[in-house]
Amino acid sequence: MTRRRKYCLGNWKMHKTQRDAEASFDSFREALGAAGGSGAFDAGICAPALSLQALACRRRGSRIRVLAQNAHWAEQGAFTGEISVGMLRDVRVDGSLVAHSERRQHFGETDASAGLRAAALLKGGCEAVLCVGETLAERQAGAFRSTLRRQINGAAAALRSLNTAELVGSDPARPALTLAYEPVWAIGTGLAATPEQAQEAHAFLREEVARVFSAEIASSLRLLYGGSVNLKNVTAFTTLADVDGVLVGGASLDGAAFAGLCLAVHS
Ligand code: PGA
Repeated sequence: MTRRRKYCLGNWKMHKTQRDAEASFDSFREALGAAGGSGAFDAGICAPALSLQALACRRRGSRIRVLAQNAHWAEQGAFTGEISVGMLRDVRVDGSLVAHSERRQHFGETDASAGLRAAALLKGGCEAVLCVGETLAERQAGAFRSTLRRQINGAAAALRSLNTAELVGSDPARPALTLAYEPVWAIGTGLAATPEQAQEAHAFLREEVARVFSAEIASSLRLLYGGSVNLKNVTAFTTLADVDGVLVGGASLDGAAFAGLCLAVHS
């Protein structure tokens, strides 16, 4: 089986001024210590746009990934409020989240726009972390599989234009495309999915990716679990067969504490 390197990604959402972001990032980097540069695992932060450039400069030889929270598919143009992949690359940002459920819920983003954003990132040589996940009503109706299938198929319309090399990137242990399974009912609620629910959804997602793309891509793709992950529950997820890491909101805001969470995954 492909050895997929574990990935711990923090999502700071709309938190922290630039000064606060720099201080948290520095304590994250320092607390990760030598492990942060070893390449044994990947760790990263999805920061607010205004702090990205500063954080990308503050890596100082560490391998910490710096990601945006969104990116537009066009190179440039009349898209007020958006940021292009070229702009992110210009300040040495590694990639971006795409279609986080808060973008879908509050800003009307769709499965199709998720695919366009992810495809533009991958074509631009950046990483794309595409978020999927069902709502509470969908889970209660027993419909989580059909939601995930719809989200993957919708995004695949644009992603199918990419070849395997663009989807996987230059390092097979760290493919350029990552999927994050974040059930909406688990985000910020303190009510994480059970490990059984996470494994079931991840196994289903891997099957869907094999069906829509290829078995090769499905076996190398990293699948992160997100939704109320904390230091206590993290290893219950990251030791599951199809969970390759975590996407962490609230528990990533304190840089040193988030480093502790990353190190717990990799110890
Ligand atoms: P949470 O957020 O860890 O605070 O639940 C996760 C996310 O939205 O990515």
